[in-house]
Amino acid sequence: MSLVPYKDQLLPVEKVFRDPVHDYIHVQHQVILDLIGSREFQRLRRIKQLGTALFTFHGAEHSRFTHSLGVYEIARRICDKFTRNFATVTPGDGGWDDSERLVVLCAALLHDMGHGPYSHTFERIFETDHEAFTAEIITSEETEVNRILRQVSYDFPEKVASVIQKTYPNPQVVQLISSQIDADRMDYLLRDAYFTGVNYGTFDLTRILRVIRPYKEGISFQVSGMHAVEDYIVSRYQMYMQVYFHPVSRGMEVILNHLLKRAKELYLDPDYKFQHSVASLIPFFENKVTLKDYLKLDDGTLTTYFTKWREENDSVLSDLAGRFLDRHPFKSVSFNLDTDLEIIEKMKALITAAGYDTDYYTALNNSYDLPYDFYRPKTVNTRTQIELVQADGSFIELSKASDIVAAITGKARGDERFYFPKEILAPLAQQTEVNLFESIFEEFTHYINNGAITEPKNN
Ligand code: NI
Repeated sequence: MSLVPYKDQLLPVEKVFRDPVHDYIHVQHQVILDLIGSREFQRLRRIKQLGTALFTFHGAEHSRFTHSLGVYEIARRICDKFTRNFATVTPGDGGWDDSERLVVLCAALLHDMGHGPYSHTFERIFETDHEAFTAEIITSEETEVNRILRQVSYDFPEKVASVIQKTYPNPQVVQLISSQIDADRMDYLLRDAYFTGVNYGTFDLTRILRVIRPYKEGISFQVSGMHAVEDYIVSRYQMYMQVYFHPVSRGMEVILNHLLKRAKELYLDPDYKFQHSVASLIPFFENKVTLKDYLKLDDGTLTTYFTKWREENDSVLSDLAGRFLDRHPFKSVSFNLDTDLEIIEKMKALITAAGYDTDYYTALNNSYDLPYDFYRPKTVNTRTQIELVQADGSFIELSKASDIVAAITGKARGDERFYFPKEILAPLAQQTEVNLFESIFEEFTHYINNGAITEPKNN
């Protein structure tokens, strides 16, 4: 690490990282290279980007590290383009001020720093918050990332954190990192499509980078590029429906959730003694997590615990660990929250009668996304709408120009599913209470095949 304060010092020769999505990632600043080399950033190599989705799409082994580099590269290309074509002349003219470049690049690179293994599931059980950890990694004096950022200027870490927290004063900078069409989303859609092997999620990034432009209130797009923006919105919608909300990945997520919940309850039970140490997880079980504890966890650490838990005396813990490691997702049916809850209760009673604890062997799980929305000042989560610049310089909001986008604007899409062990659908040969189980099986199947409950999808 350089000892001389580097401010925005450029490397004598740029460095490149080969990337399957963007071809090359170009690094021109010493500070970016040092951040990539930091201990906390290297940890992202050990956190998978899509969590349990890889149990459905086996190619999805890519990490938060590779996604973060991709977001950086898109942000860098946008800064280059803005500097070439839309540089500010007088302050406040809506042009791009390239002295913002370094804060944009650092925020792009570091925006996911606080993610842990299987973030969303993990956060629910242990009440951690990856966004709060992202800010802490950047601003805490304990981290290498913070030491590197402070060499730019004393208040630089806070500036970078405020971009990610959307409180930075320049809206162009904030919207490049988080808005309905930002460098983060553009990278993850392309990257997740590439690694899952699906054909959804692809859109014309080159074209979008041609038509993107700054204006006084943020980022806009030339109306001539409307179809590329439209395609991006539709791609995002399709990725959510086909990949991110896949029922089988959620079936694995449910197992992971119940496995961690069981481990926590056993730890808090004074009568249970774990055969193997659970040292790194104790701060999480006790809800006293420091940054240092948090940074020790990654996918590998957790998987090691799961292999140990498989040998534990508690039958629920060992069974759930086995189901997770061997990929035995729970099955599911989609249901209507307004009309089907009674049937769900009946199905749960059958599952209990078959000998399962429904706290660990069933779950209600929903996934919803709002593909796009225009700015609604009275809602809780207002969104920065996508603006298109017309030939006369006036702006038109995307859903007013695109019929395709209008069709999905403001509509949450997703479903509610009821999860249960797969074997309830077919009696097992080794089941001792065969008769009981068979009648349960028949009644259970009857609920699935009749009424509002729909047949579970095969995978
Ligand atoms: Ni991200």
